Amino acid sequence: MYSSSIFDTGVDIFSYVEPQRAPIGLFDSGVGGLTVLRQMYKQLSNESIIYVGDTARLPYGIRSQAEILVFVREILDWMQKQRVKLVIMACNTSSALALDIVRQEFDFPILGVILPGAKAAVEKGKRIGIIATPATAKSNAYKQAIVEIRTDVQVWQVSCPEFVPLIEQSRINDPYTTEVAKNYLEPLLENKIDTLVYGCTHYPLLAPVLRSLLPPHVQLIDPAIHVVQSCAQELELLGMRNTYPPLPTRFAVSGCPEQFTQSGLQWLGYTPMVEQVCFTE
Ligand code: DGL
Repeated sequence: MYSSSIFDTGVDIFSYVEPQRAPIGLFDSGVGGLTVLRQMYKQLSNESIIYVGDTARLPYGIRSQAEILVFVREILDWMQKQRVKLVIMACNTSSALALDIVRQEFDFPILGVILPGAKAAVEKGKRIGIIATPATAKSNAYKQAIVEIRTDVQVWQVSCPEFVPLIEQSRINDPYTTEVAKNYLEPLLENKIDTLVYGCTHYPLLAPVLRSLLPPHVQLIDPAIHVVQSCAQELELLGMRNTYPPLPTRFAVSGCPEQFTQSGLQWLGYTPMVEQVCFTE
């Protein structure tokens, strides 16, 4: 039985006979978190996962901090009822605007993507570009995280409001998407970046488009890889790694399940079973 003074709170997950078997919660506004889920499958294949896509309320990137806080708290309350052992905010916008506030409000560890992404970026380059949602860019969360780690780097951020809707509509191969991407990357290329951070979990899905527009020496940083590494370390530290075979991933969305099933098939390579959930109850 798991016992630790920092988790001596009597919440549900500790009533598990073997708490390491409890699922990990991942959430995003939509399909972006699937880039984190794919990393979970690669790096932590024993873990059972509950994936939440708040598709009825996307995009998050044009919302206010007050709205994001409401959504995030609702999702975390729901996750708590599912007895998760840890949550990854597979969403930069939530990580930038809500993580520091809500972390104190729940009894399970909550990880965000910004810090792992910032750490990885400073290891790679000195002229760092960030592409992000309007809310993440405006928050300056990446810039702050990066300059706290290293002061001898330069950071440029670009807000990319059109990317998430285009990705959610599966318009990756639409020539219009390449045009939009060209415009967003232009100021970063003018500043001769050597590193580009996907500051939104949706954006790795645009990798072929972005790669085709970037000079080959520009390194791409995907925070999804690094947050899952942090998750592995955290589980190890807490003695909470699942050593049993995982349960099938559970998918819960607030919008249309059928649409998410199609996206799941496209990005995961299998047809997920998707249920509709109301997080506002
Ligand atoms: N994928 C999320 C992020 O990383 C949310 C994007 C959105 O809904 O605008 O920011």
